[in-house]
Amino acid sequence: MLAADLALPLTATPAEWIAVALADLDAVHQDHLHCERKAAQSALSLVRSYPERADLVLAVARLAHEETAHVVQMSQLLARRGLVGTLDHGDEYAAALRDLCRRAEPDRLLDRLLVFALIEARSAERLALLAAAISDPATASLYGALAAAEVRHRDTFLELAAQVAAEAWRDRLTELARGEAAIVASLPIRPRIH
Ligand SMILES: [Fe+2]
Ligand SMILES: [Fe+2]
Repeated sequence: MLAADLALPLTATPAEWIAVALADLDAVHQDHLHCERKAAQSALSLVRSYPERADLVLAVARLAHEETAHVVQMSQLLARRGLVGTLDHGDEYAAALRDLCRRAEPDRLLDRLLVFALIEARSAERLALLAAAISDPATASLYGALAAAEVRHRDTFLELAAQVAAEAWRDRLTELARGEAAIVASLPIRPRIH
């Protein structure tokens, strides 16, 4: 696998985050329903923008299918825990990352793929932290399975990025990862994945 040997340059989540998340796990679960929904919608937005790229359409449609299965799993988790879903609070993290994407093609496609890879990587990191810290076995197991899926999705987006720009993608990933680190550092620490 192209991306398997790549150490994606992601900074570590601030150490305080896990305590904040564990202190209001209900809010984490409620927000994460929307994270999974937005992951599916973002993947499908690439089908709208690039219908002529058959390989990309196939890969992101499959990915969106998995994200939709994650919405189902999060919905079942909320029900199991007696939680009612809440409205999406918005996502300053993803919005700030979108602002880093260049406007002109083919740079725009490359940047969108790399930003999606970074979001998957950050999600995987924090979901794995939750899986290791949550005491309820069923909930911990679900978050562990989601973390493993998001690692695969990260690599799917990196492989697509390498197909778009075989030379430029690594340097641009390093630049965008620096931007992602600055965004994480600028946002308040909340009981949410992002
Ligand atoms: Fe997911
Ligand atoms: Fe994902």
